[in-house]
Amino acid sequence: MVKIIGIVGSPRSKGNTSFLMQKALESAESVGVQTEIIYLGRSDIRPCKACNVCKETGECAIKDDMKSILEKVNSAQGIIIGSPVYFGNVTAQTKIFMDRSRPLRGDFQMQDKVGAAISVGASRNGGQETTCAAIHDFLLIHDALVVGDGAPGAHYGATGVGGGKKDCQEDLTGIATAESLGKRVATLALKLANK
Ligand SMILES: Cc1cc2nc3c(=O)[nH]c(=O)nc-3n(C[C@H](O)[C@H](O)[C@H](O)COP(=O)(O)O)c2cc1C
Repeated sequence: MVKIIGIVGSPRSKGNTSFLMQKALESAESVGVQTEIIYLGRSDIRPCKACNVCKETGECAIKDDMKSILEKVNSAQGIIIGSPVYFGNVTAQTKIFMDRSRPLRGDFQMQDKVGAAISVGASRNGGQETTCAAIHDFLLIHDALVVGDGAPGAHYGATGVGGGKKDCQEDLTGIATAESLGKRVATLALKLANK
C-alpha cells in the first residue's frame, strides 16, 4: 500500500503543526493511502557532527532515533514535513532531521518521493513561506518531487497562523490548505505507483 509519512518538527507534539499535520494526513487517507506521523519533539535526535562516516558506510555514526525515522521515511512514497516558524525558518528539531537524513542521499533513496511542506507562525506574515521554502529546498536536494496544496489554490504549501497551542483549530484557511496538501501528495503518490 502507498504510504505517506508526516514529520512534525515542533517541540510541542500537541500544538498547531501537529494539528494541521493530522488534517493533512486524514485527507490523504480519504483517497486511499496509509499514513504515519513522527513527532521529532518526542524523539532522541542529535545534531550531525560532520564525521562523514555516512559518506563511506551509508550509516550514521550517531546511535539515536534517527535510524528508525529514516527507515520509516524510506518505506514511504510521500513525505510531508511540518515545522513551526522559528525566526523565519524551520525549528532546530526539523533542521536536525534534515541534516541527519544525509545517509539517504548517498544513492538518492528519496528520489521521486512526493514531498510537501506545512508551516505555522504566530503572525500572519511571520515567515510561513520562507519556512516552506526551506523545506522545499531540502526536498529538492534529495531529488524528491515537490508539490504545494494543489489546484485551485496551488500555493506554497499549507500555512497556519497561530501562537497559542490550539489556535490553528480556528484557522479555517490553514485547515483548508492542509487538507488540500494532504490530498495532493496522496493523489500524486498513488498515480506514480500506478494505483
Ligand atoms: C523561538 C521561537 C521563535 C519563533 N519565531 C517566530 C517567527 O519568526 N514568526 C512567527 O510568526 N512566529 C514565530 N514563533 C511562534 C511559533 O511559530 C508559533 O507559536 C507556532 O504556533 C508554533 O507551532 P506549534 O504549536 O506547532 O509548536 C516563534 C516561536 C518560538 C518559540
